[in-house]
Amino acid sequence: MAMEMLEAMEVLEDQTWLDPTGDEVQKVVSRVLAHERPTGMWLDNLLNGVWLGHPLHPVLTDIPVGAWTLGLILDGIESVTRRREYAAGADVAVLVGLGGALASAVTGLAQWQYTIGRQRRLGLSHGLVNVGATVLYGVSAVLRGRGKRGAGKVTALLGYGIVTIGAYIGGDLVYAHRLGVTHVPETELPNEWVRALADAELAEGQLKKVMVADVPVLLVRQHGQVYALNEVCNHLGGPLSEGTLEERCVVCPWHGSRYALSDGRNVNGPATFPQPTYEVRIHNGQIEVRATKASE
Ligand code: FES
Repeated sequence: MAMEMLEAMEVLEDQTWLDPTGDEVQKVVSRVLAHERPTGMWLDNLLNGVWLGHPLHPVLTDIPVGAWTLGLILDGIESVTRRREYAAGADVAVLVGLGGALASAVTGLAQWQYTIGRQRRLGLSHGLVNVGATVLYGVSAVLRGRGKRGAGKVTALLGYGIVTIGAYIGGDLVYAHRLGVTHVPETELPNEWVRALADAELAEGQLKKVMVADVPVLLVRQHGQVYALNEVCNHLGGPLSEGTLEERCVVCPWHGSRYALSDGRNVNGPATFPQPTYEVRIHNGQIEVRATKASE
């Protein structure tokens, strides 16, 4: 069963005919959420969950899945007991799920806009499947409102089956494609000082990548002060050494996440996590780094 599911995911990832649609949708979303405009950046940060310290989309997807599961149970009880109060509860659950599905769609688009290739195709499939489920639940709500409860229940049941497939694809995006999780490598700096670079080799305003004990470290000198952060952007793995240096911040070259040099705080997204930073000292003409006290 597991192998069949994995193969099904690979089939979806190979659907290149989705690419032109993906291009168009991405263009529209990235235009609306463009970081060049303060409102665009504010909205992108809001929808990606920068304020939450965690991607917002997976939080909201629990609403339709939970509400529609409850609706299914209440529909079942009502069918068996014929007690009307269960029907009212099921109808409310369907409507709550619809609200949650709309919020999930908007936040999902904000997160998906940064994907490429197979990840993007799978994300688009996830979205289309869930749109199908939401439409069925919308039809179910209308049927229920018109007193056609039997048809409304059947439509909801179909929608539930489809949303379950959508949820599986969403899980695959996170666990197999690492969408929404940190892309910082798991290697850690030792707690002892380690030589990173000769002090003379780091010019003012320079972003330089060095490997220290298998950890990719970004060294930056600004206003004479040297800073060290993990070089791999936690959002989707962009190379921060190829980014741009701003006042007290480094900006990722891929999607514009901005990290404070002093503590790695994500000043703006789409990254929802802070970037790991390291302690730095100049010793005998060498720049040395070590794990920060917090991670010791
Ligand atoms: S990889 Fe997306 S902001 Fe850095």
